[in-house]
Amino acid sequence: MNIQYNTQLQPYNSFRTKATARIFCAPQTSEELAEILKHFSQEKKLILGAGFNLFFTKDYDGLIIRPAMRGIRVVSETDNEVVIEAGAAEDWDTFVGYCVSKGFSGLENLSLIPGSVGASPVQNIGAYGTEVRDRIIKVNAVDVRTGGMREFTNEECEFAYRDSIFKITCGFVITAVIFRLDKSFQYKEKYIDLSRELEGVSSPTLAQVRDAIIRIRTRKLPDYRVLPNAGSFFKNPVLSQLEKDTLQKKLADLPVYNVGENKFKTSAAFLIEKAGYKGKRHGMVGTYEHHALIIVNYGTENGKEIAGFMQEIQQEVFLQFGVKLEPEVWIF
Ligand code: EPU
Repeated sequence: MNIQYNTQLQPYNSFRTKATARIFCAPQTSEELAEILKHFSQEKKLILGAGFNLFFTKDYDGLIIRPAMRGIRVVSETDNEVVIEAGAAEDWDTFVGYCVSKGFSGLENLSLIPGSVGASPVQNIGAYGTEVRDRIIKVNAVDVRTGGMREFTNEECEFAYRDSIFKITCGFVITAVIFRLDKSFQYKEKYIDLSRELEGVSSPTLAQVRDAIIRIRTRKLPDYRVLPNAGSFFKNPVLSQLEKDTLQKKLADLPVYNVGENKFKTSAAFLIEKAGYKGKRHGMVGTYEHHALIIVNYGTENGKEIAGFMQEIQQEVFLQFGVKLEPEVWIF
């Protein structure tokens, strides 16, 4: 059992804020994790992936668990499909790159999303018309309360937009994720940005789609190693018909997508930009010049400054447009 005390968390969150964990562990197997959970049963606990979707505003007075289970293996295959398992600590984009290099399709639209495989189901990562839930068939996890192992089917994961059972309960540590991928590939138009990038390519291959997505993301999103950030900071809000109609009177070019009965998803980035907050900087925190939805850290180690800037954006967008922006990023 490898346990550390008073561990600095700055390397473990992509905003690079400073805070310590009273107890910290990075178990490499489910058995080691179960032992740790038994030993520290009374402690408050937090599960950390690669730390790309959270930051700290204060020290953590409990046990932080950073799963370190590795390995990628093909579980089974037919002529058309492959079932592939990846350990929670595998780097997400390296895994996607591996699948693409083998000709396994289904995850290519999720190229270059920072983070670990184990974090992918937690917030049901999504981009360019694909969500990871479309490809997950099973999630292996350990129950934080009992240390027992548990398998979740896709349905049991209760996936929704940037949401799952793992986010709601925080009661399970994901140890591995099992995906079903296709052995063939046919490009389908799903997202305008991607189609534009692929214009002129008659029938894009799997590798060409991955490359196109890497190009779009590199252009639009800041590199966390240069400008620390946590990707999209807010969720895209969902409006009712009435809210949408009212807002469109103010903002005629508001992007809206019908996502259910009386439900219209709009763009948080658009609202932030219209509120005058694209590329705005206060002290050491700001929004990215090429994408209003990304909060970037210009050099503070204090998470409270980031949280303060977040509140300022929320207040301004609410004041101007009556929409409450909800953070997608977790704040501790
Ligand atoms: N827009 C602006 N100003 C900006 C940026 C965008 O007005 O500065 C508007 C444009 O109208 C644009 C629309 O917002 O067409 C959508 O922008 P984008 O395609 O970049 O997508 P997004 O809704 O801002 C979502 C995900 C991203 C994902 C992209 C691509 C959420 C919260 N974010 O962003 O995910 O990469 O779609 O599919 O759903 C993440 O979760 O960390 C993340 C980066």
